[in-house]
Amino acid sequence: MREKAWEVVGLNEHEVPSLRRQVETAVSDAISQALPELAGADPVVRRSEHADFQANAALALAKRARRKPADLAASVADALRRDIGTDTDTDADTGTPVASVTVSGPGFINLVASDTALWRQVAARLASRHLGVGTPQQGRRTVVDYSGPNIAKEMHVGHLRTTIIGDCLSRVLGFLGAEVLRQNHLGDWGTQFGMLIEYLDEHPDVAWHHDELSDGTSTVSALNTLYRAARAVFDADPDFADRARRRVVALQAGDEASVTRWREIVAESEFAFSEIYQRLGVLLTAADSAGESFYNPWLPEVVGELTQAGIAVESDGALCVFSAEITGPDGEPVPLMVRKTDGGFGYDTTDLATIRYRIRDLKADRILYVVDARQALHFQLIFEAARRAGWLTDDADVTHVSYGTVLGPDGRPFKTRSGDTVKLMDLLDTAVGRAREVVTEKAHDLDPAELDQIAEQAGIGAVKYADLSTSRTKDYTFDVDRMVSFSGNTGVYLQYAHTRICSILRKAGDASAPVDTTLAPHPAERALILALDAFGDTLTEVGQTLEPHRLCGYLYDLAKAFTDFYEACPVLSVAQPTRGNRVALCRLSAETLRRGLNLLGIAAPERM
Ligand code: ARG
Repeated sequence: MREKAWEVVGLNEHEVPSLRRQVETAVSDAISQALPELAGADPVVRRSEHADFQANAALALAKRARRKPADLAASVADALRRDIGTDTDTDADTGTPVASVTVSGPGFINLVASDTALWRQVAARLASRHLGVGTPQQGRRTVVDYSGPNIAKEMHVGHLRTTIIGDCLSRVLGFLGAEVLRQNHLGDWGTQFGMLIEYLDEHPDVAWHHDELSDGTSTVSALNTLYRAARAVFDADPDFADRARRRVVALQAGDEASVTRWREIVAESEFAFSEIYQRLGVLLTAADSAGESFYNPWLPEVVGELTQAGIAVESDGALCVFSAEITGPDGEPVPLMVRKTDGGFGYDTTDLATIRYRIRDLKADRILYVVDARQALHFQLIFEAARRAGWLTDDADVTHVSYGTVLGPDGRPFKTRSGDTVKLMDLLDTAVGRAREVVTEKAHDLDPAELDQIAEQAGIGAVKYADLSTSRTKDYTFDVDRMVSFSGNTGVYLQYAHTRICSILRKAGDASAPVDTTLAPHPAERALILALDAFGDTLTEVGQTLEPHRLCGYLYDLAKAFTDFYEACPVLSVAQPTRGNRVALCRLSAETLRRGLNLLGIAAPERM
C-alpha cells in the first residue's frame, strides 16, 4: 500500500498532475538516461527560491555513484536539456514542462517551468470539476472513528477536537476517493445508567425531555443537571447506591422497563448531540452512530475467542490480555481488562469487539481512531491484541490519530472560572458573538438576517480553523479574540480573502475567456499559479500524514499569494488577453479557497 511519495501513481480521469509531479517525472527520466545504474531513484524535487523548482538528487546520489555531485548534476541537466530542444517554446511538442535548467552550488539542479506549461495548468484545473485533484485513496475502505461523546454527559471542549479533526479527515479522504465509513463510538453503556434510571424512576417530575423544556434550557444541559443530581444522591445515600447497582444488573439482564428508560435517555442525548453537529456543520448523522452498546451481543464471543487462543488469561479473578510488547512503569506487562472480577465487560472489551467488527464485517482497509492522546496506551494494547488474535493483518492499516489538549489562558486544561469543564454550546456562542462584533466593524451594509448568518459562519469557522491549523499533536490555547481576527492565519482571514475575490469576479461579469497560454506571466502571477497548482499535492499529503494543519497552511499561503498578485497585477482595468488570464486566476483562486475551506468543514460566504 505504501508508495514512494514522489512517484506518480495511478493517474485517473479527473487528475491534472501538478507541475511538480511533471518535473519529478522529467528529472527521473533524465536520471535513467544519464545514469542508468541510478534509475528509479527519488529525484528529490522541491520548490525553490532561485527557480520554480530544484532537484537535489545529485547530492543524495553522489556517494552511491562515487562521483562528485556537481558532475552528476551536470549529466542530469544535459539530459533534461535534450528534452527541451533548442527553441524555448517547443515544450508543447516535447511534452516537457521545463523551459530552462541550470546547475548551481554543490549540485542543485534548478528548473524553470515554461510559461505555456504554467497557463496550461490553470486552464486544465478550471476545466475540471475536481480542480484536477486525483483520487489516490480510491479503493481504500476507511473507517473514521470520531466524536464519541458520552451519553448523558455534556459534550465539552475535549470532544471538540475529535469532532472537528475527524470530520476534516473524513472530508479530505472522501475527496481523494476513499470510501469513508464514519463511526461515532458513543459512550452509551456503562454503570452510570443504573444511577440515572433509578433516579428518574424515583423522581418522575424532573423535566429533561427536549419537548418539555422551556426557557431556553438545552437538552444537553438538562441531561447534565440530571446526571449531577443522580450522582449527588448516589454519593450521599448508600441505599440509593444499592438500588442503582441493582438497576445496572437489571438493565444488563434486559429488564424491559429499564431498557426502555435507557433507550429514552440515549435518544435524548443523541438529539442534543445532533444539535451540536448541525451547528458545527459536521457530517455525522444518527446513521453513523455505533455506540458501545452496539457491540454488546458479541462480547461473550470475543472473550471466548481470546480465551481459547490463550491470549486472554485469568488474573486475580479477572480475565486479562497482557501485552508482550509494552510494559508499565513497574516493568510489568500492561493488561487489557477483558472481563472484570464481577463478570462485567467494559471499555476494553468493547474496543476489542469493535476492531474485530470493523475488519471482519465492515471490511475496512484502514481504521483511524481520532481520540485524545491520553488514550495512546489503550489503543496500542487493542491493536496488539487484535494482531495476536489474527483479526488485524498487514492488509489493514490502523492508526490512533491522537491530538493534544485545549488549554485555557492560564496554560492549563481549559476550564470555566468555577473549575467546571467548558460547555461546547457556550463556547460556540461566545465565538459567534465576538465574530459578530468584528464583522459589524467591517461591513455596515448587511441586513440583520445576513449579519446573523455571517456571524455564525465566521464564529464557527474561527473555532474550527484555530483547532485544525494547530499541529494535531500539540496542545493549543483557546483564545477567542485571536481566532476571530481578520489578520493572521485565521479562518476569518481566509473567508474574507474568498469574499474579496468573489467581489472582483462579480465586477468582472461573466467574462470566461479562454486562457491564453502564450502570455509571459508576471512574477506575482507565476507565484500564484504555482501555489494553485499545489492544491492536490497538499491534499495527498494530508491523506498520508493525517495532518489537517498542512491544508490550513497551504490555504493561508495561497491567500497571501493572491493578495500579492492583486497588488501587483490589476485585473479589471487591463485589456484582453491579459484581463482574461487574470480573471481566470481569480476564478481558480476562489474555487480552490472555497473547496479548501469546505474540506476543513468551514463555510465560505460570498460576502462579509
Ligand atoms: N467515548 C470515548 C471518550 O469520550 C471516546 C471513544 C473513542 N473511540 C473508541 N473506539 N474507543 O473518551
